[in-house]
Amino acid sequence: MNWLTAALGASVGKKLMMALTGLAFTGFLAGHLAGNLTIYGGKAAFNGYAEKLHSLGPLLKVFEVGLIGFAAVHILTGLWLFLQNRKARPVRYTLDTSPGGRTLSSRTMPYTGLIILAFVAFHLTNFTFADKTRTTIFEIVSAAFSSPIYIGIYVAAMIVVGLHVRHGFWSAFQTLGANHPKLMPTISALSVAAGLIVGFGFGLLPIFISLRY
Ligand code: HEM
Repeated sequence: MNWLTAALGASVGKKLMMALTGLAFTGFLAGHLAGNLTIYGGKAAFNGYAEKLHSLGPLLKVFEVGLIGFAAVHILTGLWLFLQNRKARPVRYTLDTSPGGRTLSSRTMPYTGLIILAFVAFHLTNFTFADKTRTTIFEIVSAAFSSPIYIGIYVAAMIVVGLHVRHGFWSAFQTLGANHPKLMPTISALSVAAGLIVGFGFGLLPIFISLRY
């Protein structure tokens, strides 16, 4: 097990954990978005999707525990790397020579990450932990998005999630070794596409719901 503790203690091991947990979250987001798109089918379609999800019972619980574990690893490792980088480089470089250069999304990763953490806590309180005994998840979601404040918070948060996914996706592939110059344009394009799909895919939902219901 010594090799494992050594690998996880090294920066490269931490980056690998960030990459793998980050890609797992991207998979979760893809599934969550696909499920949420049933909102376009109306009340019955969305409630039907939520019912199917909850009928998974213990399997859903296992999935949720896994998600919490991945989140803990991703957040703690991210914070560790952030603090380690700051300690190693107290004076910022004026010129960044990292491959792909510095973009808005790469520079803001720790901050967008913390905003997403706050968003998820807010989001779970709104929907997952809401009392559903006398209502349905569709009613809860459409009531939330009848408020311009909620719409604003969700749309702003989805821009932040899109930015985080854009750089995270790119960075994960770098860490996993897909950094051949020939692959760069494709990976860059895929990262931008992933950020846009997440940002627009989720971000348009509150607007649609507020206009339609
Ligand atoms: C407009 C955007 C979104 C909408 C309308 C939405 C809707 C929902 C709803 C209705 C639930 C509760 C499902 C249920 O209990 O039946 C839920 C759960 C959840 N959402 Fe979202 N969501 C959105 C964006 C996001 C984003 C961007 C993230 C992550 C960054 C996220 C993370 C989660 C998590 C972690 C859960 C709990 C999953 C579970 O307990 O199995 N959501 N969402």
